[in-house]
Amino acid sequence: MGSGALMEYRDDGAHLRFPRGFLWGSGTSAYQFEGGDYRCDWSESERRGEIRAPGRVGQATDFWNRFSEDIRLAAELGHDAMKISVEWARVEPDEGCIDQDAIAHYREMLMVMREVGIRPIVVAHHFTSPAWLESHGWWLGNDVPGIFARYAGQLVERLGDLADTWCTINEPALLAAFGYGTGKWPPFRKGWPTGLAAYARLSRAHNLAYAEMKRIAPQATVGICLNSVAVRPAPGKRLERLVRAPANWLANFRAADIVRGHTDFLGVQYYSRMSPGRIFGAVGRLDDPGEGEARTDMGWPIFPSGLYDVVRDAWKRYGTPIYVTENGLADARDTQREGFIRDHLAWLHRAMREGADVRGYLHWATTDNFEWLHGFEPRFGLIGIDYDTLERTVRPSARYYERICREGEVIVTENHPSLAP
Ligand code: BGC
Repeated sequence: MGSGALMEYRDDGAHLRFPRGFLWGSGTSAYQFEGGDYRCDWSESERRGEIRAPGRVGQATDFWNRFSEDIRLAAELGHDAMKISVEWARVEPDEGCIDQDAIAHYREMLMVMREVGIRPIVVAHHFTSPAWLESHGWWLGNDVPGIFARYAGQLVERLGDLADTWCTINEPALLAAFGYGTGKWPPFRKGWPTGLAAYARLSRAHNLAYAEMKRIAPQATVGICLNSVAVRPAPGKRLERLVRAPANWLANFRAADIVRGHTDFLGVQYYSRMSPGRIFGAVGRLDDPGEGEARTDMGWPIFPSGLYDVVRDAWKRYGTPIYVTENGLADARDTQREGFIRDHLAWLHRAMREGADVRGYLHWATTDNFEWLHGFEPRFGLIGIDYDTLERTVRPSARYYERICREGEVIVTENHPSLAP
């Protein structure tokens, strides 16, 4: 067995043990949580009334002011890692000018994490960009990768004593597809040529930022977070079976191939599956659930074995350490989250038993959050938020996850599908 992942059958079922030192936690991002007033592409588009979301981001969850409460709550729930992102528009509100107050604020955030024993995984870019990037043509500008790398280097220089694990860009392919290709997100540069061009800039930005961050802090661990989907042909469709491999390449390997050799780890972010037909048709949506299949409040099929597919494939192809940096569901009633966590972890454990070097699992998300074009309705949080009072309430599933975090072990029945030979 590889990776220190062990399994033992006992009277109450199969005990799946994760290796010592495996990181357990959850995630947030700047724009979806912090709230507040600053000039990034999303906030500017919102001000101009261009975003067709139910509700405006406004104060979001007020994480900017309540980070200490949320981080402490996460620590009480047994988390020892947390993904956060830094808002570029706060740190560099005008091109070339670093805002010392913003840096001081993020330092405070990281210090609270350190104090309560939570290891930060800091993302430099999670979908939003400063408004001034417009003068460079947003992510279509030739000079933008270099400008981003300079900013990423500044982060490591100013926050690097408090954080050793970094991620350059969150899901560049998704940003290229939505902000450019389909043009549904700011900066609404619709068209496949722009989608491809933005994608090329974002990939280059990662590679340059990686080099810059390692130059400044050679000891830092720097990676990238990539959206992944399980690619399963729709039942009974022969053509879909035939094109599964190229569809899988397009959906899961294209981004990772470009950053090969320029990353210390891969952050795998997994939610559900997509058929080859949808991938080639650029449908931009996950599969619809099959008849009777469990689904999240977003309507996405709950498909735990897909996490095994994407982790196994990434490990086989790249042999680079993996963190699952996002995996979760919208589930307002909290009736499915416990089973979701158990089943996804069971399949992840299978990939690890087969040798995949997985170092941590971060559930998305720590608390409820602003879900981009879907507004505040989808409830992704382990901790619920009442948006009228901003009161935080720990959901029962967070208690279930707490036991896993503390014990480093998931218990499943002996006939769990992930244990099948
Ligand atoms: C994004 C998050 C988002 C989550 C759920 C991921 O693709 O990184 O910002 O909230 O999916 O849709």
